[in-house]
Amino acid sequence: MGPLGTFLFVLPSLGVHLPPSQPLQHQKCTRLRSRAPSQQQPPQQLSQQQQQQQQGRGLCIGVVGGSGFVGQHLLEALQAIKEGRREEGAGLRVGEVRAYVRSEEAAEKVRRFGAEACAMDEPLDGVDVVIHLAANVALTDEQGWSAFESPAVNLTRHLLEAAEKAGVQRFIYASSTLVFLDARSRWLAKRYRNISEGSPYPRRPLNFYAKSKQMAERMVLGASDSNMTRIVLRPPIVWGPNDTSLLRVWNMTVSSGRHTWAGQGRYLKSTCYVSNVVEGLLKACVNGRSGQAYHVTDGNPVEWREFFTAVMSAIGWDLDALPSSLYKDGKAPNLPRWRSALRLLRRGTQMEVIRHVLEGPFTVDDSVSRKELGYEGRVHVHEGVRRLREWALAGKAT
Ligand SMILES: NC(=O)c1ccc[n+]([C@@H]2O[C@H](COP(=O)([O-])OP(=O)(O)OC[C@H]3O[C@@H](n4cnc5c(N)ncnc54)[C@H](OP(=O)(O)O)[C@@H]3O)[C@@H](O)[C@H]2O)c1
Repeated sequence: MGPLGTFLFVLPSLGVHLPPSQPLQHQKCTRLRSRAPSQQQPPQQLSQQQQQQQQGRGLCIGVVGGSGFVGQHLLEALQAIKEGRREEGAGLRVGEVRAYVRSEEAAEKVRRFGAEACAMDEPLDGVDVVIHLAANVALTDEQGWSAFESPAVNLTRHLLEAAEKAGVQRFIYASSTLVFLDARSRWLAKRYRNISEGSPYPRRPLNFYAKSKQMAERMVLGASDSNMTRIVLRPPIVWGPNDTSLLRVWNMTVSSGRHTWAGQGRYLKSTCYVSNVVEGLLKACVNGRSGQAYHVTDGNPVEWREFFTAVMSAIGWDLDALPSSLYKDGKAPNLPRWRSALRLLRRGTQMEVIRHVLEGPFTVDDSVSRKELGYEGRVHVHEGVRRLREWALAGKAT
């Protein structure tokens, strides 16, 4: 299939990112309340979890943001563990999965993976582990700060309070290594290599998204007097089947002829295939220290040009055949295009500028999560590309 054909079948799904239209038809989260908050054991989080697992009950996992790209992969994995079709190295046992959603549309999505749909303001009583994935992942600030503040700041605050009140044992927040990107990178030509968890936040984050993730992280990691184990998981670029954010942006960039290779794409980037993010989240349900952020990646960084070409090829684009590439291997730069790229840096749209900042070396050290969470990053990039191709060819994108 040629690029256009592929684009046409991929786009409808990638483009779907509707605001919640219908309110959730309230199906009360009816369940056996296995323990009231007041009857809980003292705060020995890990051993309590282990006891529950040994008793065979399995943990009750509350997922927020389960209707999204990562969320649906997570719910699928949780269901597989619950049904005994998948084992997690950390010995995680799942008894119940509740997905907290904000619309009927989202409720339908999570029910497909066997999760019980609960309204967002439903109490968290009986939940052992909260996994908070909800976010506005737009890279530009066009929607205004409140669109980012709502899921990252207000919702996180609400969930932390509700979780403390309900005696939740673990709170896992999905953040992003984008928190380290400095808005001034565009001018400073900053290079990001081997970023560790302890790296400082920049004073001016790249965009509202990065700012909102930073604020949420501070809330989650901040409360040292809490009995709840609080963990932040930071993946870099997340990619894989069903992605509705980055794949969509990349698709639009290529299809509109605006794709360029900054620095010929010859620099290293860390990535994280979606199943590897899920592995990190599952490992964090039982392992990991409170107050700690953990980086997860696909392992060795990849050369951007090679990775991006492979990912785009998996969904039907032959980048080397595109006339819009700024550079072609072995050829001199095309000067008029070079000039237009420089113009773009001076007066480009916000998306173009952000793309430029994202195009550059960005590698992340994930050794702490490998040591403390038992994270392995089991899906290699080659296998991820194969799965992405399979997904695209199967037309599952429609
Ligand atoms: N994708 C990446 O490349 C990437 C990279 C690093 C980190 N992450 C992080 O991973 C997490 C999941 O990302 P994703 O790619 O799966 O995002 P996504 O596909 O856009 O899903 C976002 C989820 O958040 C929910 N949500 C958004 N705003 C909300 C609000 N105000 N109140 C309640 N729920 C809200 C959405 O619910 P609806 O279905 O109702 O809209 C959806 O379930 C995010 O925290 C993101 O920051 C992603």
